[in-house]
Amino acid sequence: MFNRLMLGLALWLPTLAYAYTDVEIDRKVENLLAQMSLTEKIGQMTQVTLNVVSVGTLPYDMKEPHELDEARLKNALVNYGVGSIFNVGDHAFSREHWREIIEKIQQVATTQTRLKIPVLYGIDAVHGTNYTYDSTLFPQQIGLAATWNPELVAKAAAITAYETRAIGVPWNFSPSLDVGRNRLHSRFYETFGEDTFLVKTLGKAMLQAYQGNDVADKNHIAATLKHFIAYVMPLNGIDRSSAWIPEHYLREYFLPPFIDAIGAGAKSVMLNLSEINGIPVHANPQLVTDLLQHELNFKGLIVSDWESIREVFYHHHVAENDKQAVKLAILAGVDMSMVPYSFEFADQLQQLVKAGEISEQRINTSVRKILRLKFELGLFEHPYYPVSDYPDFGSEKFRKVSQEAASESITLLKNEKNLLPLPKSAKILVTGFTADWIQALNGGWTYSWQGSKPLWVTHKPTILDAMVQKFRDQVSYVETAYETTPLEIQAAVKAAEDADYIVLCLGEKPYAENFGNVLDFGLPESQISLARELAATGKPVILVLAEGRPRILSPFAEQMQAIVMAYLPSNEGGLAIADILAGTVNPSGKLPFTYPFGQNSLTMYDHKHSETYAVQVQYPFGFGLSYTEFAYSNLKIDRKQLTAGDTLNISVDVTNTGKRAGKEVVQLYIGDVFASLAPPVKRLRGFEKIELKPQQTKTVHFKIAVEDIAFINAQNKKVAEKGDFEVMLGDLKGRFVLTEDVHF
Ligand code: BGC
Repeated sequence: MFNRLMLGLALWLPTLAYAYTDVEIDRKVENLLAQMSLTEKIGQMTQVTLNVVSVGTLPYDMKEPHELDEARLKNALVNYGVGSIFNVGDHAFSREHWREIIEKIQQVATTQTRLKIPVLYGIDAVHGTNYTYDSTLFPQQIGLAATWNPELVAKAAAITAYETRAIGVPWNFSPSLDVGRNRLHSRFYETFGEDTFLVKTLGKAMLQAYQGNDVADKNHIAATLKHFIAYVMPLNGIDRSSAWIPEHYLREYFLPPFIDAIGAGAKSVMLNLSEINGIPVHANPQLVTDLLQHELNFKGLIVSDWESIREVFYHHHVAENDKQAVKLAILAGVDMSMVPYSFEFADQLQQLVKAGEISEQRINTSVRKILRLKFELGLFEHPYYPVSDYPDFGSEKFRKVSQEAASESITLLKNEKNLLPLPKSAKILVTGFTADWIQALNGGWTYSWQGSKPLWVTHKPTILDAMVQKFRDQVSYVETAYETTPLEIQAAVKAAEDADYIVLCLGEKPYAENFGNVLDFGLPESQISLARELAATGKPVILVLAEGRPRILSPFAEQMQAIVMAYLPSNEGGLAIADILAGTVNPSGKLPFTYPFGQNSLTMYDHKHSETYAVQVQYPFGFGLSYTEFAYSNLKIDRKQLTAGDTLNISVDVTNTGKRAGKEVVQLYIGDVFASLAPPVKRLRGFEKIELKPQQTKTVHFKIAVEDIAFINAQNKKVAEKGDFEVMLGDLKGRFVLTEDVHF
């Protein structure tokens, strides 16, 4: 698989840029640092949002159309020595406007400041360069996860890197390595789902494609691993609230994606803005210094999340004022504060250093890391590259990759009596509030933070548009609102009389962060009524879901003949959905989470044996149907006994027993039968997506080292304990024994 990944990436090879050796960078950094005043150093650690240097009423409003405010810009860069600016004040801009902004900012930084240090501009390009018109957007991470295809994830990320550099921005606040252990959480869709192994594998692929071999290269960017650590598991599912996580589970479930991505050279890390076990991560030296920097050996830049240092004071109540919060965060190990609206952080840090509460050595440590990243990115030579270097920006070639990603993500959950694909002659009623609303396919972080502004997306085909392209005048449409009215329901029921099939498009409205908090995991009653009344017409209903997390379907799922999970497939999602409904594409997406059955059946696939009685799922983790069938046979485990240093070779034959070509995700699960900590019934330990023609068979191989079946024990140590293990591949099972305890 590794070779194929490399081959895929070769298509996006970096072009040579000016890269310094480590020693040269150290020399340059020390040189610069020696010339810097305390104000200049602290300025480098200060990050403000674009609003702060734009025309408009601070903090939130930016004048329309957007304009930089020269006086504010100079104050930030020249007087405060601000080192980083980010984001875009809830706007999207054209590529040309981005270039204008970046060129102006870099011109002031590199000509008018004393030491001519370029600005490190950062952005959330979390599903494509999503704050730029006409860029290529991709499915949100939860959809990319459903592809179970690291090569495809890497292709999408490489395009994002290219288009982000093209607008002049070299630093991305992505990927999210959060393991989505709480599906209620409003940021679940920003994750690669509930499983550590899947998050770790896809996260690393994304990171490597963003950064390439050299971040100075004009086609690559520095990535930010976020949100360190365990953000998407608050106790109550509410964003920015409390989590209680014992250290061994923190290490078992949440740490591995960070270990791998840091090992692969990640340049920066953003911290979790919540608190774990009562301590805000931003004020926790055990996590930020001991674990992240010492144990994981992370040498890169640690950036705070949005206003999160202040939040230690006003949100978590762990500091008695802002200044104390700054002190706690800096001593915990934060290098840069995403302030974001003022220079208070800089003023307070200055006071703390002058009062001897924080040493200048401590400041130097952070400034070194910030300057180092600027050198590594080549910003001193190329604060930006010429526009003409990016001929493929927003190209058809890139759009196709997005459509491919959407197609591979869409997951067929139910297909009673092989109702799908729809026959060519089908007369179809399309309805439901996500049917003709492109924002619903995109979700948050799309042209605006919440993703609900109608800007620039209207020219992309909705589900309805795409269905009309395929089925022409056989399609009828009844518009319904999110809170569907009885009149709309009546109209849809009436229209169903003339249709053979009903495509009912439901799901969620766009949201980001705390705006997506929910207290009820169901869909609105009015949408359920619409579904039920359409089902009562006797016409088969195909439910299409555009949603960032699995809203409960059990009140009406039985009555739906087919269910298609689209996640948040983005701008090409309409086309991809229509391709699947029409059968042009054979679905191959698999759930990257357990689809719960009820409000309180939130158990995940890797639950404990004692939780088995509580497991009632709508659809299991890893599940997804195809228009063909696959059979598993010939499971081979090359040894019955395993000792330290051994590798287990496992293989299985997979045959396409149906009539059309299709892709299957072969998933290897292993269960530890007994352990000193109650073991999960199974864990995903390997997967590979393969494509098979009808009647074709492929043998899929997995290599399992002893470390791959280890876990973190109650003493927080990694161990593989001797005893029996169960192997599960498709419907086949095998066993092996580990003959001794192995410590790592
Ligand atoms: C989010 C981060 C994001 C940052 C900058 C925060 O509110 O938690 O994920 O990178 O804002 O937009």
